[in-house]
Amino acid sequence: MCGIVGYIGTKNAYPILMEGLKRLEYRGYDSAGIAMIDEQGKLNIYKTKGKVADLESFCAEKDTTGHVGIAHTRWATHGEPSSINAHPHYSSSGRLALIHNGIIENFITIKEKLVARGIQFKSVTDSEVLVQLIEYIMLNNKLELLEAVQVALHQVIGAYAIAILDREHPQTIICARQSSPLVIGLGDDDAFYLASDASPIAEYTDKVVYLNDGDIAVLQLGKELNVVNMENETQHPKVRQIDVTLGQLEKGGFPYFMLKEIFEQPNCIRDCMRGRIHTEENSITLSAVIDYREKLVNASRIIIVACGTSWHAGLIGKQIIEDLCRVPVEVEYASEFRYRNPIIYPNDIVIAISQSGETADTLAAIELARNSGAFVFGICNVIGASIPRRTQTGIYIHVGPEIGVASTKAFTGQVTVLSMLALCLAKERHTISANKYQKILNELMRIPEKMEQALETNEQIEHLAPIFTYAKNCLYLGRGYNYPVALEGALKLKEISYIHAEGYPAAEMKHGPIALIDSEMPVFVIATHDSLYEKVISNIQEVRARGGRVTALVTEGDERIKQFANHVIELPDTLDCFQPLLASIPLQLLAYHIAVCKGKDVDRPRNLAKSVTVE
Ligand code: G6P
Repeated sequence: MCGIVGYIGTKNAYPILMEGLKRLEYRGYDSAGIAMIDEQGKLNIYKTKGKVADLESFCAEKDTTGHVGIAHTRWATHGEPSSINAHPHYSSSGRLALIHNGIIENFITIKEKLVARGIQFKSVTDSEVLVQLIEYIMLNNKLELLEAVQVALHQVIGAYAIAILDREHPQTIICARQSSPLVIGLGDDDAFYLASDASPIAEYTDKVVYLNDGDIAVLQLGKELNVVNMENETQHPKVRQIDVTLGQLEKGGFPYFMLKEIFEQPNCIRDCMRGRIHTEENSITLSAVIDYREKLVNASRIIIVACGTSWHAGLIGKQIIEDLCRVPVEVEYASEFRYRNPIIYPNDIVIAISQSGETADTLAAIELARNSGAFVFGICNVIGASIPRRTQTGIYIHVGPEIGVASTKAFTGQVTVLSMLALCLAKERHTISANKYQKILNELMRIPEKMEQALETNEQIEHLAPIFTYAKNCLYLGRGYNYPVALEGALKLKEISYIHAEGYPAAEMKHGPIALIDSEMPVFVIATHDSLYEKVISNIQEVRARGGRVTALVTEGDERIKQFANHVIELPDTLDCFQPLLASIPLQLLAYHIAVCKGKDVDRPRNLAKSVTVE
């Protein structure tokens, strides 16, 4: 949610910032802006409503020289998308420029005080108060910029990652973090890069520092990285190595990141299992389970907290963990959990699932769980993100950077990790027989190959998609392990094609949604060959009897459903618990192709952001 990028070094800053904004655009794309200090010490700020490409056109005829700069792509929270509300914001005197990701909760109080002292605001954003406050403190108290930032941040309540340029000190960028991510890249040529995540930095350096909450970093050309806190005490953050290749950040010949990421899934799942599943011994090793065996094995309850697609993965995790480990699992929306005084016992394990590792509500749920004495376990994709740093242990899904706003490979990666965790814990808890363990593990190892088969449905789905573009509403039905798949399929369609869709447990349809069924509403049913197959067939008949048009996902060779469904999409057979790993693929493809038919920008759906760092 909002992407920030910065550079200070000896190269021309403009292409680095622009390239960085493009990599971060998935975090927000309603407006964008850039600030640079040129060779004469002039602070140039350019901003526009629209996408990064619009900013690039806007800058084409402008002075974009300079070796230091900051840039921002916005996802509006306070104030509509417009060039005035876009970042960077500049201070009254025009001396400072600031970019901000997060929300300043007490901005109205601060703004009122500043307005009463004669400061004029240009935008209606919460972010502008930061730059005005910092300058006000700096000029009135004759402080250095760093001191003014420290004083100002003491007055601020909320979440922020900020970066500030000062025209009077063109060799310095100051940045700070509280509850919003900020990464600093350390270039070999003494250059510094800064960004909301490592993706704009990866092509220049693999050495990064993840700032912690309360850190303020001073990036000065030719000097060592200086990190202090608000009390000016020196901090010593670890320099870490990132492992992201350029290829992972590019579309690799696909028209959209989403399609690339859908097709990457077989290899992502191989990467996710690599080093964890040992084919020779037919076993799984998860270091988190080795390190915290006692705690995990003796848990009397597991609570999964997550948002969006990660929450759907949690629903599948609940079923497989309960089935194999016989421990009760609750799945909570992090945004609800954090505000409802939940009962948490010290013997509970709280599993936080998050692709980005930065979702504000999930982070808050983690803090609540920690404060209640629970053991908190993270399942994340982005290495070094806030969630893995705030949890006691966890497992990375290792599916590589996910850029498409609609999550695809992270979902199947999360389900894979939850499956491995369930198997591992079941073995340790002695709730699974050796035979069953082997059978499930063998099947898990075959999933990437079966995903490749599932991807062969792409052409069929591309041909089917135009039939559904007229739809105003769609219903997705599934039972058991496929119920969360129905929810996820409906979410994908909503997110990128803007067609209203609902996921429902197939049998519950009788208690409401059946009233909506007519020939105008496509119904997608996941009717693969599992233990509820016969029941789902009855549910399909109920839809057909009311004139509904059914597209069914079936197991290959299924001749029965063909007789009464309007369309069938065949998938390889697998165990019940792994149906979601295969069945979600055609639903991702369906949402993708429908959105493309409707001419939508698949990777940048309106109003959405990949990483929701505000609550
Ligand atoms: C946003 C994204 C979704 C994602 C959700 C949770 O809404 O658009 O794709 O599922 O946030 O994000 P997380 O990073 O915590 O998994």
